[in-house]
Amino acid sequence: MRTLDLGTHVPASVIGLGTWQFGSREWGYGDDFADRQAGEIVRRALDLGVTFFDSAELYGFGRSERILGEALGDRRDEVVVATKIFPLLPLAPVVEQRAVASADRLGVRRIDLYQVHQANPVVRDGTTMRGMGALQRTGLVDQVGVSNYSLDRWQAAERALGGAVVSNQVEYSLVHRAPEEDLLPWARAEGRVVVAYSPLGQGVLSGRYTSGHRPQDAVRRANPVFAPENLERLAPLLDTLRQVGEAHDLSASQAALAWVVARPNVLAIPGASSVEQLEKNVEAASVHLADDEVAALDERSATFRRVSTLERARGAVRRRVRRTA
Ligand SMILES: NC(=O)c1ccc[n+]([C@@H]2O[C@H](COP(=O)([O-])OP(=O)(O)OC[C@H]3O[C@@H](n4cnc5c(N)ncnc54)[C@H](OP(=O)(O)O)[C@@H]3O)[C@@H](O)[C@H]2O)c1
Repeated sequence: MRTLDLGTHVPASVIGLGTWQFGSREWGYGDDFADRQAGEIVRRALDLGVTFFDSAELYGFGRSERILGEALGDRRDEVVVATKIFPLLPLAPVVEQRAVASADRLGVRRIDLYQVHQANPVVRDGTTMRGMGALQRTGLVDQVGVSNYSLDRWQAAERALGGAVVSNQVEYSLVHRAPEEDLLPWARAEGRVVVAYSPLGQGVLSGRYTSGHRPQDAVRRANPVFAPENLERLAPLLDTLRQVGEAHDLSASQAALAWVVARPNVLAIPGASSVEQLEKNVEAASVHLADDEVAALDERSATFRRVSTLERARGAVRRRVRRTA
């Protein structure tokens, strides 16, 4: 599989594996998924050449890290193990303690990529990055990354660390293209990496959800893209995805992933609810979309305008007023 260099001991596959789904109640996948299928997904990913695995201390309150570490077993050293600190109070000593706890749950001697899950609005990056720097010097952390950072904050984090903050993990997909404005160009110019989370729009780009068939888990009930109005507005984009997919004997999801990783310096970390999904997602890494196919998807996605939660609430109030008037 094509890889990107994060400065880690092995290069990172452009399709990695996201593990929020492992042991996190909000996805509603149940105990059998956590106890059995999650491990099978990891082992199959290893066999297929996936070398980038992403977790976070927040996912299942440490359960995702434990499941991932156990499933990687003796093969932990063959891959890039990435996790994230949730920055409630990311002072240097706290960062150091939390890294030790994550490494323990993952069963690793070194966290290959340690990321700050989101920018803390009050605590600046100076103290956080002092902790990260100390962890790098002891060897417990190899590379430092951030997540959900603006470009300004990413650059400030680099200045505070006094070295490369090699990646920024942000939402990026055909239904969320904001990183194209500044993060992608900067990453490309500076040799950094954008790690694309929710690259399938949390499954909406598979085309299997409609206004009459919406996912019932807490994560996607809270995601406005799954609101009936938005699912209807997405129909033209999903049609184009299906057409592009069919031309390559691929599903809509695979075409959506191929579009993400066609961008330079972008690595995608789709989650999966089954081994079959993981296999399909990995296949997408070897697909080459033609320029006109990328352009057609660009165009369709640019015309999708998401109805926000506020607009939906206003619409509901207007309808109620009309009914009672
Ligand atoms: N840093 C952050 O703040 C942040 C935020 C969100 C996520 N993340 C990371 O990014 C990872 C991925 O993001 P995500 O899980 O939010 O969204 P995603 O990868 O876009 O969507 C994952 C979901 O899509 C469906 N799916 C996956 N492969 C499929 C396929 N081949 N065909 C059809 N459906 C498929 C599955 O759900 P169903 O089968 O149930 O439909 C799966 O649970 C997470 O696991 C996590 O590691 C990070």
